Amino acid sequence: MADHSNQKITWRCPSNIAIVKYWGKTGNQIPCNPSVSMTLSEACTEVELELMEKKSEGIELEYFFEGEKNEAFQNRVIKYLETNSAHFPLLEKHSFRINSHNTFPHSTGIASSASAFGAIALSLLDAENKIDRIHDKETFYTKASELARLGSGSACRSMFGGFASWGQHPAIDHSSDLYATPVKGVHENFQQMMDAILIVDNQPKKVSSSLGHSLMNDHPYAQNRFEQAKENTAGIIKTLYNGDYEEFIQIAESEALALHAMMMTSKNYYLLMKPGTIHAIEKITNFRTSTNIPVCFTLDAGPNVHILYPQKYKEEVSDFLKNELKTDLSGIIFDKIGQGPEKQN
Ligand code: PMV
Repeated sequence: MADHSNQKITWRCPSNIAIVKYWGKTGNQIPCNPSVSMTLSEACTEVELELMEKKSEGIELEYFFEGEKNEAFQNRVIKYLETNSAHFPLLEKHSFRINSHNTFPHSTGIASSASAFGAIALSLLDAENKIDRIHDKETFYTKASELARLGSGSACRSMFGGFASWGQHPAIDHSSDLYATPVKGVHENFQQMMDAILIVDNQPKKVSSSLGHSLMNDHPYAQNRFEQAKENTAGIIKTLYNGDYEEFIQIAESEALALHAMMMTSKNYYLLMKPGTIHAIEKITNFRTSTNIPVCFTLDAGPNVHILYPQKYKEEVSDFLKNELKTDLSGIIFDKIGQGPEKQN
């Protein structure tokens, strides 16, 4: 076998915002319900993976984030590699150094594990791919999606541009719990969507998503929630095909509130919304009612508000954000629908 030591591979992977939310998991990162997301363009993680000759037993990995050693994330990635070593034959002969950085500002409270694990999975698989040359392009991204999922569930949807779904669903061809698939043939109404992210609070979240998922295990409303997400997945896919803004908005906003309702009604309940979150939601819905512009909100597992709108209303929405919301918020990140991951070298 050729020597691949000191080879460097760099991938940039975007984050994504779920429209139908994945909340609750089982086994090795298997979702309890299907989900649908929009891949972003600006919020990305870039990972440079350096392969070196292995010196000792066990996994040798050094992880640097923004130029500094990050022991906490390094340990998470080592655990990921140990748990899934069967997927990574190159662990046997190589040690690794990862240099990563995010393209979005620090201290926004925006989670980056989806883009980080996306970029890590792509780089590792690319390294494997170079060694064994087993994958065609489609198989490569599907396999990368599966590997990303094992690190962070939602990361699996970032492998594809536009919209992607993840989780077995009778209405979606080739859907799987193991990897995401792109939603093809999206109506022009949804091809140029924008996402303005209002940073309501820039502190790291107090309750991890892993803990949140685990609280669905004995949640009194779990089964109804999984059914609701299944119905909403079918509904959102339908709107993506027929271009129905009204139905899209209804599902997107109800999904955001359902996600937070699950947190608030679990046995160990908690609340991630802040007064600024509620204030923004009210302003957005009032703005929609008074202008008829198809703008809506969605939420991640945190207080920040994602405002989704078609690009053609960019000016009107910017004015609204400046005049009605900016004064209350520490920042806004302007993002939009993206093309998916990119190899950098
Ligand atoms: O991928 P995780 O384990 O960080 O969970 C993500 C959960 C949500 O972001 C709240 C929803 C989703 O589908 O992305």
